[in-house]
Amino acid sequence: MIGSIKLIYGEKEYLLPLVEGSEGEKAIDISKLRQETGLITLDTGYANTGSCASSITFMDGEKGVLRYRGIPVEQLAEKSTFKETAYLLINGKLPKQKELTDFSILLNDNSLVHEDMRAFYENYPRSSHPMGILSSMVNALRSFYPALDDLEEEINMTVTRLLSKVRTLAAMSYKISRGHKVVYPRPDLTYCANFLNMMFDSPVQPYEIDPDVVKALNVFWILHADHEQNCSTTAVRVVGSARVNLYAAISAGIAALWGPLHGGANQAVIEMLTDIADNKNMKRVIERAKDKNDPFRLMGFGHRVYKTFDPRMKIMKNMCDTLLEKSKFSDPLLEIAIELEQIALNDDYFIEHNLYPNVDFYSGIVLRAIGIPTNMFTVMFAIGRLPGWIAQWKESIDDPNWKLCRPRQIYTGPNDTRYVSIEER
Ligand code: ACO
Repeated sequence: MIGSIKLIYGEKEYLLPLVEGSEGEKAIDISKLRQETGLITLDTGYANTGSCASSITFMDGEKGVLRYRGIPVEQLAEKSTFKETAYLLINGKLPKQKELTDFSILLNDNSLVHEDMRAFYENYPRSSHPMGILSSMVNALRSFYPALDDLEEEINMTVTRLLSKVRTLAAMSYKISRGHKVVYPRPDLTYCANFLNMMFDSPVQPYEIDPDVVKALNVFWILHADHEQNCSTTAVRVVGSARVNLYAAISAGIAALWGPLHGGANQAVIEMLTDIADNKNMKRVIERAKDKNDPFRLMGFGHRVYKTFDPRMKIMKNMCDTLLEKSKFSDPLLEIAIELEQIALNDDYFIEHNLYPNVDFYSGIVLRAIGIPTNMFTVMFAIGRLPGWIAQWKESIDDPNWKLCRPRQIYTGPNDTRYVSIEER
């Protein structure tokens, strides 16, 4: 505790303790507020609410800082791999060589999914969105891999299975949606290369693994690996607080991420850029985004926390340039994105509202360069976010002060009302 704040309510004064995080951010601890004053707080959308204390990820939205376990995301994107970053987030430290090797072996050993799960895929309508399928498949994993008696072993195995099998499930959903033969995971390939091979290898055209594409995927997933208490992570923590199994909690996170205001924005950005390319309507798109009476928003712009450039967006944009230059692949949507970004950054509306491009603005172009189809974009985000969800869930269940998440409300409905029988209505 670093002091207190005085609250005067009615005839009485109350002292609410202040708490401070390791980066100096301060909060009012209101955990005894209702008990002592009878009041609750009202914060729709939780923009002013700290839901937990966490030692996993630090963001400074004003300065555009993002660190996992203290390490800047820029350094991880340059020097680490997604697998190592996942280890860091979940275990709280970078692995030694032996720890990383053991982790790789475990991931390899658990990469297959039960053959019976294919039946689920085959019965989904072909038009189903892969995020809906992934969410239900992850939930279904519990039925195929029932809980072990030893709690520690159960948690470790579930974490390993999820990290390894979600990749396989995602690639399977793509192959089956196209009516193609499923490609099995290969133990000789690295985490990212293995996924790319499962996605793109085929009996008629073997997939050639390109180290630049593997690097791009590593960076893409590292940039998405955690983002403290965002919507989907909060969903995982809230659902997890009811002490459901981890599969169910992650399944809820995937469902939340699907939304276009969250992870679904990467798909929405490409759809918006394609619309601009087809209809040459960039001016109109900007006007619509500024129109208060139109629910349309400039997708890939704005962020609840960042009020400056999203640091992930800068790395993503560089990755986009490098990948396109190396592959000699030109994407007309990149030019449109650059022009749109410049117009928005110089427009009074976007300046006054502190709206900058977020990670999703360029991520779709990177994914297109890798060869990922648009409807799989949010699935790619989900695979990347998995270590963060797991780390946050683990932290929550290990917290001795953790409680069932159950907010209160201010009721605005009718007062005590007599039931009227159907004949009298
Ligand atoms: N285009 C136009 N106006 C915007 C945009 C946008 N992309 N984003 C916010 N605004 C405006 C709002 O209309 C509002 O204006 P007003 O104050 O004049 O009414 C103001 O900025 C504040 O907007 P809020 O919705 O209150 O801000 P919030 O923090 O809730 O929104 C969000 C954050 C949801 C990300 C929003 O910026 C948005 O919808 N962006 C587009 C979708 C997107 O790119 N999502 C991905 C986010 S990153 C991620 O999840 C990985």
